[in-house]
Amino acid sequence: MSLIDSARAVRENAYAPYSKFKVGAALRATSGTVYQGCNVENVAYPEGTCAEAGAIAAMVAGGDTAIAEIAVIADSPKPVSPCGGCRQKIAEFASGDVKVTMATTDGVILETTVAGLLPGSFDADYMSRT
Ligand code: THU
Repeated sequence: MSLIDSARAVRENAYAPYSKFKVGAALRATSGTVYQGCNVENVAYPEGTCAEAGAIAAMVAGGDTAIAEIAVIADSPKPVSPCGGCRQKIAEFASGDVKVTMATTDGVILETTVAGLLPGSFDADYMSRT
């Protein structure tokens, strides 16, 4: 199964009763294992979590810490773009050249990279004097 098909499948499980906007994410770790995540909303709105965050949590729980590729999908008019917080979360576990595939459920696909999503990202180098 392709990474986008994996994201499409897990999107069905999204819990999004408030926004009604279901999102699925799938990532392949450098080990080859694929991890999935979906958004999980909460009546206390800020407590909701994004699909990408879920996939990353599953990856770390599964014993992996390096992303080789990631895909995200939603029923949106244009390929869904990870939010700012998720860009930082992805950057924690992916090098800048890692491929990010964004998709609509209609099949429109846009490819970019982690660095393309988050140029000039804050990383541990900035803390090298501490
Ligand atoms: N959402 C994601 O899960 N990932 C994204 O890339 C964009 C936004 C979720 C958060 C919230 O549950 C819903 O989509 C609407 O913002």
